[in-house]
Parts: sequence; structure tokens; C-alpha cells
Amino acid sequence: MKPIIEALKNRYAVKLFDDSKKLTVEQIEDLKAVVNLTASSLGMQPYRVVIIENQKIKEALKPHAYDQAQITTASHLFLFCAHQQIDNAYVDDYMNLISEIRHQSRESLKGYESMVSSFVNSRTKEELEVWASKQAYIGIGNLLTSAAIAGIDACPMEGFDPQAFKEVLNLDKMNLQPLALVALGYKSPEDKYAKLAKVRRSNDTMFMQF
Ligand SMILES: Cc1cc2nc3c(=O)[nH]c(=O)nc-3n(C[C@H](O)[C@H](O)[C@H](O)COP(=O)(O)O)c2cc1C
Repeated sequence: MKPIIEALKNRYAVKLFDDSKKLTVEQIEDLKAVVNLTASSLGMQPYRVVIIENQKIKEALKPHAYDQAQITTASHLFLFCAHQQIDNAYVDDYMNLISEIRHQSRESLKGYESMVSSFVNSRTKEELEVWASKQAYIGIGNLLTSAAIAGIDACPMEGFDPQAFKEVLNLDKMNLQPLALVALGYKSPEDKYAKLAKVRRSNDTMFMQF
């Protein structure tokens, strides 16, 4: 546990990355695995992650993110998006996946399918989006912690215009609603935030023990 605590103490929300340092293909694959292995309600993974490496696209996004330097200096951006079409077809697709991976008949999944379908059908589109975003933030948490342990620097970011991002990345046709992103790479030696002390509440304030 101690190495994890040390990694969490050392990590911070990077404001300026060293844009000459790029993450390798293998590192990106590992970070994808971290997100994909994250737990989600009913196992539905009702979100998707758009990975942006292309510098021109990052430049196009920056003005829609309050010109924050992380957008263009990070090696990669992981943009977490709520899947906006959580419906019977999505449930059917998920059941087919379980059946295929676990070599289980579709018939044996009927009970689970009806439970999942009634969860989906009893909620509005807005409620499903809130639910999807909660799942996405678990992925974000996992990604931040894992990156810290792997010595990769990161900044979680909500400071951007989701609608503009949607337009630049043409996400409408994929039914994706941007929620938050994680900029990943290596901090610049000029990032003065690296040296700031962590501001955290005391454990007495944060935790109630019975
Ligand atoms: C959901 C979320 C959104 C955030 N959005 C931004 C952002 O847009 N820009 C930024 O510089 N930092 C952003 N932050 C970073 C926080 O300001 C930072 O995590 C917090 O001040 C604690 O500092 P630390 O992470 O360096 O320990 C965000 C953090 C989270 C969790």
C-alpha cells in the first residue's frame, strides 16, 4: 500500500506538460486496459473514451478549453463521454457479449436481461446520462491512480465546452456526450504547480467513524 500512497502524494494536476515527451504505444495500451478493466454498474460500461494524440486536433480544441496549456502540451488526451443511446439494443448487444465470452446460452441470460432492461427502461435519457457519467468518473479515478503509480503525469479536466468539443470531434454521430478529460504525458520542468504543497482536509474532517 505504501508505494500507492507515495505515488498519490507525488501526483498533482499538471498545468504544463513537456510537449517533447510522448507516451509510447505500449503505455497507451496499458492505460486503455486500466480504463476497460474498471468496474461499472451492471457491467454496462455506459461510456466511451476518445483518445486524442493529433496535434492539429488538440490545437482546435484548446480555445474551447479556456486556452489551458495542458490541451496542447500533453502527449494524449483521454476524453470520457457518456454513451447517449442506452436502450434495448444496447442491452441486447451486452447480453450477446456475455453469452459469447462466457459461453453461456442467450436463453440462460433472460432473467438478467429483463432486470437490466427494466433498469434502463424505467429511467429518462437525462437520468441515464447522469448514471453513465458516474460510471465514467470511476474510470477517470482509476486512470489517475494508475498513471500516478506508473510515473505518468496527468491532469483531470472539466474546464472545457462539451458542445464545442462535440462539434470539433464530430461526436454527435457516435451518440457521445463529453464529460471530462484526462490529459496525460510528462510534466514540464517549468510547471510551477509541481512544487506546491498538497491542500487536503484532515482525516478527522473527511472521515466519520462509528
Ligand atoms: C473532475 C475534475 C475536473 C478538473 N478540471 C480541471 C481543469 O479544467 N483544469 C485544471 O487545471 N485542473 C482541473 N482539475 C484539477 C483540480 O483542480 C485538482 O485536482 C485539485 O485542485 C487538487 O489538486 P491536485 O490534484 O494537484 O492534488 C480538475 C479535477 C477534477 C477531479
